[in-house]
Amino acid sequence: MKDFVYDIPTKVYFGKTALTHVGEELSRFGHKVLLVYGGGSIKRTGLYDRLIAQFKACQLDWVELPGIEPNPRIQSVRQGAALCKEQGCDMVLAAGGGSCMDAGKFIAAGACVDFDPWDFISKHLPLTKALPILTIPTMAATGSEMNPTVVISNMETRQKLGCSSPALRPKVSFLDPELTVSVSQYQTACGSADILSHIMETYFNPGEGMFMLDSVMEGLMKTVLKYAPIALEHPDDYEARANLMWTSTWAINGFTRTCQNHVWACHGLEHELSALYDITHGLGLAIVTPRFLEYCLDESNVSRYVRFGVNVFGLDPRQEPMTIAQQSIRKLADFFYNDLGLPSTLTELGIRKEDFPLMAQKACEAKGGEIKGFKTLHQQDIIQIYEMCL
Ligand code: NZQ
Ligand code: ZN
Repeated sequence: MKDFVYDIPTKVYFGKTALTHVGEELSRFGHKVLLVYGGGSIKRTGLYDRLIAQFKACQLDWVELPGIEPNPRIQSVRQGAALCKEQGCDMVLAAGGGSCMDAGKFIAAGACVDFDPWDFISKHLPLTKALPILTIPTMAATGSEMNPTVVISNMETRQKLGCSSPALRPKVSFLDPELTVSVSQYQTACGSADILSHIMETYFNPGEGMFMLDSVMEGLMKTVLKYAPIALEHPDDYEARANLMWTSTWAINGFTRTCQNHVWACHGLEHELSALYDITHGLGLAIVTPRFLEYCLDESNVSRYVRFGVNVFGLDPRQEPMTIAQQSIRKLADFFYNDLGLPSTLTELGIRKEDFPLMAQKACEAKGGEIKGFKTLHQQDIIQIYEMCL
């Protein structure tokens, strides 16, 4: 078991009354807010009006940056950082999906420096400071509301890259599951696939793991398997939405990663798909993950698949280990493509085989030459996994 430091300082308000605390919490950080949101869902659901009412009640000034795109662009981040500087904003409030939260977090950092925020990523300039960040997630997926990470796209260089720093962790997040009842079936399915992937990226680890954390992750995975289909069938089922929301936060807030190696191979492969084709992140993961597991399976790691199959999918432990492993991959694929109803191939998304070498090259470059993970992947391995997804 590895040593670790546990430091997750985000304050979370959870539940139907969470939003009533927005004004009072914002007031702790200053007088002027930059409100970051997306293409309009917060206006349709009434969240926007509720926030403005609280700004007014607490005598807060605000500036708005609407229009954050799914797979948020560095252009929007630059715009937001400039707005914060011009308008003297004291804090950033991001209300929306992971894209809005990531953009808001990166804007908060960009507002504190004189250089282009993309340089944090491209030149690895130190990111040590950000305006206070507060978030209101409106879908269960990325866990950005409690983690130190952003993922930003640069359409000019056709790159989608992550950046992490303790300074990017939100100070306060408001999680109201009722905000997620309006999320479409498609986005609910993609978000659920993303949550599951975040857990699996840590669970399928080359290290020894730890019984306690493995058991927690199995519980989190079972929660997604149980409640995602319910949320699809009954979008306003509060228990389902609440379970998905809290699971998405815990899947990637750093807790399950304590004492584990950092792997995350499927995310590396997916980010290249969405960088080139602008596809939905969770969908890319749902297509890649079962093929990745199939590709990596061998005698040396079969016990991990067995544990997964038996404890998460309830498979019969008396069978041959390889049989259980294969069945567990099939069960996972069934969940993505039948229960969640997501497309199962890259061909359906119009992704062309000719781009695989470039995507594999960029995926390796982003990780310093090779993807070290559950199994070390080189460009040729990645191309083969992509081909299995056709
Ligand atoms: O833009 P609006 O109008 O708000 O609509 C959004 C968007 O079209 C809609 N939506 C969100 N909440 C809604 C809603 N529609 C109706 N009702 C609601 N309550 O959903 C669409 C997708 O939103 P988006 O924010 O893009 O989705 P998601 O939360 O899945 O975020 C994906 C982004 O996060 C990154 C992904 O790569 C991608 O760029 N990730 C961020 C991570 C992190 N910060 O740690 C980790 C993840 O692995 C991931 O890479
Ligand atoms: Zn993800």
